[in-house]
Amino acid sequence: MVEHLEHYGVIKSKKVAEVMETIDRALFVPDGTPPYVDSPMAIGYNATISAPHMHATCLQLLEENLQPGMHALDVGSGTGYLTACFALMVGPQGRAVGVEHIPELLTSSIKNIEKSAAAALLKEGSLSMHVGDGREGWPEFAPYDAIHVGAAAPEIPQPLIDQLKPGGRMVIPVGNIFQDLKVVVKNLDGSVSVRSETSVRYVPLTSRDAQLRG
Ligand SMILES: C[S@@+](CC[C@H](N)C(=O)[O-])C[C@H]1O[C@@H](n2cnc3c(N)ncnc32)[C@H](O)[C@@H]1O
Repeated sequence: MVEHLEHYGVIKSKKVAEVMETIDRALFVPDGTPPYVDSPMAIGYNATISAPHMHATCLQLLEENLQPGMHALDVGSGTGYLTACFALMVGPQGRAVGVEHIPELLTSSIKNIEKSAAAALLKEGSLSMHVGDGREGWPEFAPYDAIHVGAAAPEIPQPLIDQLKPGGRMVIPVGNIFQDLKVVVKNLDGSVSVRSETSVRYVPLTSRDAQLRG
């Protein structure tokens, strides 16, 4: 899977290749699901684990803001795969935070991470997983160098902009039916620049009730 993503130029750096090899996707997909196929997979509760090429794209876009010691927030953490990758990148001196609003998914993401190469980071606390409405971010460990949003928002939630550090970067799908993956940079003077990276298709960033109603 990683070689394939490198071959097609989705993975461009050694660090991202290393992290995606170290965090084994097979531990994060439901039993009986082919782990290394480049496609999103249903994980229940009207949610999916994102396709490997989307995980790789987001890691590449955020790599500079996932250096050892930095703080990273993963909103809509789902299976916990990307949060675990963030935790390895920022290391034990950093902080990786996952927020998911379906408690059952949060519980299974913790079990997934406990089987993975990020287990020690979860145990000693530099990686933490929380139930909550990710549209509010997670103020406790703000400001963040990197924020990833794993579900599509109709517009960029202000609390997430507020929790981005000057110099920080957020990757977030924005839109309803037609969505763009936006890269949001908070400049050192506090102003914000936004650009579109590519067209995407994600499940909505919404309320728990709306998601469960489908
Ligand atoms: C595409 S899925 C999972 C993505 C995750 N990166 C993965 O690959 O496992 C998006 C997730 O966002 C969650 N979600 C949607 N709206 C949310 C909200 N307001 N707060 C927190 N999580 C939310 C969904 O429950 C779902 O698990």
